[in-house]
Amino acid sequence: MHTKLDPWSSSDITDYSKLFEEFGISPFENLLPEIPSPHTYMRRRVIFGHRDYEQIAEAMRSGAPFSVMDGFMPSGKVHLGHKMVMDQIIWHQERGASAFVGIADREAFSVRGFSWQKCREIGVEEYILSLIALGFKPDGLIYFQSGCKSVKDLAFELGVKVNFSELSAIYGFSGETNLSHMLSVATQAADILQPQLDEFGGTKPVVVPVGPDQDPHLRLTRGLAGKMNMFRIEERETSEGWKYLSIRGKGAPKEALQELKKRIPGKVKLYEEHIDVLQTPDSAFLERFGLQISQPEKRKYFMTQIQEIAKFANEAKPPEFSEYEKYFVFRKIWKTTRKVLEEIVAEVAAEFGSYAFMPPASTYHRFMSGLQGGKMSSSAPDSYIALTDDPKEGAKKVKKAKTGGCVTLEEQKKLGGKPDECSVFELMLFHLLEKDEELLEIRQECISGTRMCGSCKQLAAEKMYEFLKDHQEKRELAREQLNEYNIVYKN
Ligand code: TRP
Ligand code: SF4
Repeated sequence: MHTKLDPWSSSDITDYSKLFEEFGISPFENLLPEIPSPHTYMRRRVIFGHRDYEQIAEAMRSGAPFSVMDGFMPSGKVHLGHKMVMDQIIWHQERGASAFVGIADREAFSVRGFSWQKCREIGVEEYILSLIALGFKPDGLIYFQSGCKSVKDLAFELGVKVNFSELSAIYGFSGETNLSHMLSVATQAADILQPQLDEFGGTKPVVVPVGPDQDPHLRLTRGLAGKMNMFRIEERETSEGWKYLSIRGKGAPKEALQELKKRIPGKVKLYEEHIDVLQTPDSAFLERFGLQISQPEKRKYFMTQIQEIAKFANEAKPPEFSEYEKYFVFRKIWKTTRKVLEEIVAEVAAEFGSYAFMPPASTYHRFMSGLQGGKMSSSAPDSYIALTDDPKEGAKKVKKAKTGGCVTLEEQKKLGGKPDECSVFELMLFHLLEKDEELLEIRQECISGTRMCGSCKQLAAEKMYEFLKDHQEKRELAREQLNEYNIVYKN
């Protein structure tokens, strides 16, 4: 069966592994060792998938520029589900990302029929106050789509590269879909690509943390990123099996290709519409190890890396040089080469008035389930906890929540509970318990039947009360600090 991913109806995704196969989302787990002090959501597998997050991890490690971008449709109350996204925005901002938050009023206007005024009220009162209260720093940009000229202009330009068949294939749009709804899709793509515009520092990795329902937008945007570019970098293979990089520039002016050729040192071949990067002067060194690599060496950091690799390789004399190490050297040089080429390509593209977008990276987190079992739904206030719920109410909702416990205490002592099907455990796992050990202990006790649901509910309700109380105090402080923030409203 086909997995349905529809951003406008709350889709019920139960089998996340399908997303890996069908949409090419990669498991996040494999990346954990590359991430400096991973977020709780990462450690606890709440974030289960990603696309291209390697680039983000690398930027965090090396201090290279990168961005985090997210959007919120101002549709109703801000709740724990939104907190998950906000937490991730803030976490990346703390690790050096320039942060962009769009309030998707164009989407709410066209899909929900909300007035601009209503969008603004909900946008500020619900989302922006909580975002700031959770720790968003004033150096990030917050904007309403309808007030952001660069996003609107870019959306229009992107529209040239999207046609109706594509939209109906991705979103199931039909003859009934209104034009503004389609425009709001282009606007979201523009949201995601905006951090790479020249005025924000140009080409760079951008991560968009989302729930899997938003993936259609990312697929569309990744495609658009490529279509808007003058050049495309591809990995190719010669008939003898050597890999090399090729820069394709269909329709690019001849002068742009010539300029590229000039800037990439080493063995570079210029053709009608593309350039092949075959070898650079000192690849002789690598050939000693049975490696042949495309290797331009322009930037300083590239040279440092090559020297590091060379030192490593020289110290590990060829006979002791294992296959694994060869692979390691190869990968490292390959990746660096690509990065330098991307930089040169972006520079030249900018000089010739074209974009050079990298496809956006993304992370995917599990949805929280409804407190009563089933889905969270805005029409059932007991199914979710809003960040503005009265703390006492919030605690009450926790106490009424559905658990994974047995019907009778005796049964539970005998059979144990099911923490993985328990919304109270989920609250602790996602939001309330900081210490992994404490969580694991509770899980163990639950499974073995030594823990009863009452004590979990008590603990979670107390923590929820504290959290909401504290958060709401911070929201009031945020209200006073609003003018210190860079917020672009609809004018
Ligand atoms: N479509 C998103 C939602 O329904 C909002 C959104 C707008 C967004 N622009 C975005 C999400 C950019 C991620 C990135 O909430
Ligand atoms: Fe959930 Fe705790 Fe009950 Fe286990 S004991 S089912 S974790 S509430």
